[in-house]
Amino acid sequence: MTGRVADVWPVRLTGLQVAAGALTLRPVRLSDARRWSRTRIAEEPRLRPFEATVTERWADRHAAVRWPALCLSQRSAARRGVLVPLVIEVDGKYAGQITLGNVMRGPLQSAWIGYWVAGPFTGGGVATGAVAQLVDHAFGPMRLNRLEATVRPENAASRAVLTATGFDEVGLIPRYMHVDGAWRDHLLTVTTADDHGEAAVARLLRSGRARWSG
Ligand code: ACO
Repeated sequence: MTGRVADVWPVRLTGLQVAAGALTLRPVRLSDARRWSRTRIAEEPRLRPFEATVTERWADRHAAVRWPALCLSQRSAARRGVLVPLVIEVDGKYAGQITLGNVMRGPLQSAWIGYWVAGPFTGGGVATGAVAQLVDHAFGPMRLNRLEATVRPENAASRAVLTATGFDEVGLIPRYMHVDGAWRDHLLTVTTADDHGEAAVARLLRSGRARWSG
């Protein structure tokens, strides 16, 4: 019942077209340093309210010199099968990141999903398309049984993304994570392989929110 690591990493998911452009999900790489740093620093006001508290200066935490260690540890975790760390590209441009984390095998077969999209690329279906593709990959080649995502109740855009890609809000976790300087409640959202009768991408195609390109 387990997708073998060698069969599912590295992964590259392409071909989905959303309003913002053509999506590619591909592994993080060392050469992302400057793009990652520039984008994360520019996006601080949008990211900080929804990401784990950063205690040092945001610009220091996201300096380009910090990327190699982070990237190498993520790629090492990916080779062990516990993480799927991907960059989201829109028409070949660096637009954000999407990750499956804490991939559990054995009787759980589960993972969490998290993502961010840079301001210039938002509002065009990028996150929805990227989550749909990764959900299908998780329930398809990776053969997972359950995906969860936690989201702050006030994060309306992310809740819309999760609803559109088949996640159900199952409850509120009080003071779940330290975000933006305080312990914040989060909604737990879940989707399972059994819910996944219609693939997430197929649902977007049927509703006209995406199409296959090429
Ligand atoms: N109120 C209600 N709905 C909103 C709002 C709002 N203020 N703003 C946007 N939306 C809706 C849009 O209408 C759209 O829904 P629709 O397709 O049904 O019309 C949806 O939110 C956004 O869908 P996309 O265009 O696919 O998403 P986008 O590419 O713009 O990315 C994201 C959304 C990822 C939340 C982006 O804004 C972002 O990176 N925010 C900061 C970081 C963040 O919040 N990351 C997610 C943390 S939670 C997690 O990772 C599970």
